[in-house]
Amino acid sequence: MEVLAEESNKEKEQSEKETTEALMDEKRIYRPLPEMVVNANIDPNDYENAVKKGKTDLEGFWEEAAMELDWFRKWDKVLDRSEAPFFKWFVNAKTNIAYNALDRHVKTHRKNKVALIFESEGGQRSRMTYYDLYRASNMVANALTSLGITKGDRVSIYLPNIPHIAIAMLACAKVGAIHSVVYAGFSAIALRDRVNDAEAKVIITADGFNRNGKVVKLKEVVDDAMLDCPSVETVVVVKWADIPVDMSDGRYVWYEDLMEGVSKEFKTVEMDANDPLFILYTSGTTGKPKGVVHSHGGYMVGVNRSLKWVFDIKETDIFWCAADPGWITGHSYIVYAPLVLGTTTVMYEGHPLFPGPDRMWQIIEKYGVNILYTAPTTIRMLMRFGSQRLKKHNLSTLRLLGTVGEPINPEAWVWYYKNVGNQNCPVMDTWWQTETGMFMVAPTPCNVLKPGSAFKPFPGVHVDVVDAHGEPVEPGKGGHVIVKEPWPAMLTTLYKDPEKYKDVYWSKIPGVYLAGDIATKDKDGYFWFQGRSDDVLKIAGHRIGTAEVESALVSHKHVAEAACIGVPDKVRGEVAQLFVILKEGVEEDEDALVNELKAHVRKMLGPIVVIKGIDFKDKLPKTRSGKIMRRVLKAQELGLKEGDLSTLED
Ligand code: WTA
Repeated sequence: MEVLAEESNKEKEQSEKETTEALMDEKRIYRPLPEMVVNANIDPNDYENAVKKGKTDLEGFWEEAAMELDWFRKWDKVLDRSEAPFFKWFVNAKTNIAYNALDRHVKTHRKNKVALIFESEGGQRSRMTYYDLYRASNMVANALTSLGITKGDRVSIYLPNIPHIAIAMLACAKVGAIHSVVYAGFSAIALRDRVNDAEAKVIITADGFNRNGKVVKLKEVVDDAMLDCPSVETVVVVKWADIPVDMSDGRYVWYEDLMEGVSKEFKTVEMDANDPLFILYTSGTTGKPKGVVHSHGGYMVGVNRSLKWVFDIKETDIFWCAADPGWITGHSYIVYAPLVLGTTTVMYEGHPLFPGPDRMWQIIEKYGVNILYTAPTTIRMLMRFGSQRLKKHNLSTLRLLGTVGEPINPEAWVWYYKNVGNQNCPVMDTWWQTETGMFMVAPTPCNVLKPGSAFKPFPGVHVDVVDAHGEPVEPGKGGHVIVKEPWPAMLTTLYKDPEKYKDVYWSKIPGVYLAGDIATKDKDGYFWFQGRSDDVLKIAGHRIGTAEVESALVSHKHVAEAACIGVPDKVRGEVAQLFVILKEGVEEDEDALVNELKAHVRKMLGPIVVIKGIDFKDKLPKTRSGKIMRRVLKAQELGLKEGDLSTLED
């Protein structure tokens, strides 16, 4: 790849002024490698045509994408807008995403192709072919059926990053059940709330798993949650960490026992394209997480096309999305899209730095990974160890790199590009959300890249930056990120709360989807995402609502009021700073109380909430109507004037 601009001292200077202006000043550009362009799934010409078609014939564009997949019955209409914003894609079509991910492949040369490469934290590896995965998920589908699960029932999956999670998801899809994966780092209370909201009949979990050299006792968390999960009839427990667990409750059953004698064949249920495939809970601005619902048909079309074009997936690729299936990134790009495309997907159980900072490079070398997709936090974490370690590993199989989850600072982008990709692998910065299901703003390997920018909207996706009235803003000015037209992998609703779906996403700027992010577009039309405009934090790429943290805090017996803000962190992007008003008469040692409150938040929400500090206050800044002004707290904390914080202020 040819580097056009001078890079000399720029990197150093840049880290000193990581502000919006600094980002917009980013002058380096990276042109695509000629051989990449020649072999790309879509070349620059195709790309331009696709962008045009996505604008002039949105439905035709996505119809073409849908034709690449298998349907039991084709659609009567590509897009029905009559009940907007409840858009329907591929009206009356019948399909099943699991049929496309597995069943159709086992009828082809892919039957014996490796579908999934798995490595445990302890270094054990296993491989499953498409046929293995097909049979394993058929067995679980049969087992779920024997437990009384039928189309439309909810199954909660609380499993670590092990093959069983993919198998369980696919099995649910095959049965027509709606899966709700709960990230294995969430607490018992978070799990309980999600299980209860979904009214799940079955939970699939494991005894424990390995993380950073320790065994996480997952089943104990489930035991706590189960004290108050009345809808759950059965808890299926995978024996994984091989630790003693209490199975005395009549609702518990070992996964392995359940599979005994079960048939390896299962007839995948025909689903309507708009039937729900999964619920994934994500944080919003209230204390209660939102159940984002995705469908079989549109979601499948969107994830398939976006992965194929952005990561230029080839038949021979080994694709490693180093996320967790507990988040949307894992749903779309560890499990569904790679399998629908028939590629080989990599799954790693453990911590990226265990037992040392070489682990990711070892995995790439060991399996000959061609595409690595990870989060800026991970890149920044690895950057701290320098590039020397990398040089000891043969990473020459890498062809493409990617990032997601939070804005990537140009330094991290360039470090990733130079050291991990050896200046041969374009970095695909992909902007999207749990709600969007698929990449929305992302380049392809044939585009000219600017470090720190996620490029432009994917063809057939209409993202823009506007002011509070929905008017486009000038280049270089900050604004709200919106999507002007429906896209196939869009959320179909919020579970049990269609009104909230309309209200949160489609009403603040009428007629368009409001993402909750702020960004600027530069004069070339490149998008520069700056973070959330609402009260949602991104801690190491994990999405956490300030209201969730606050309600966790006020549930502590000593806390009267609480406020949570995000403050910048060099590695994690953002961490939580908390402010607490104690109840009258509380007389405890401050340090001890800080520790107790941190532990309390952890217990309520899980370890993903990284707390920088807790300040005790006598009062909190509030509006006349009594709402806490987090913006004022943030300005004080960062030593800024209130108006400095956002260009959206007015
Ligand atoms: C942020 C993750 C900048 C953004 C797939 C969005 C990003 C939220 C990027 C969604 C990116 C995601 N650059 N910011 N490339 N990708 N975000 O639902 O704030 O966990 O709204 O989905 O992550 O987070 P979620």
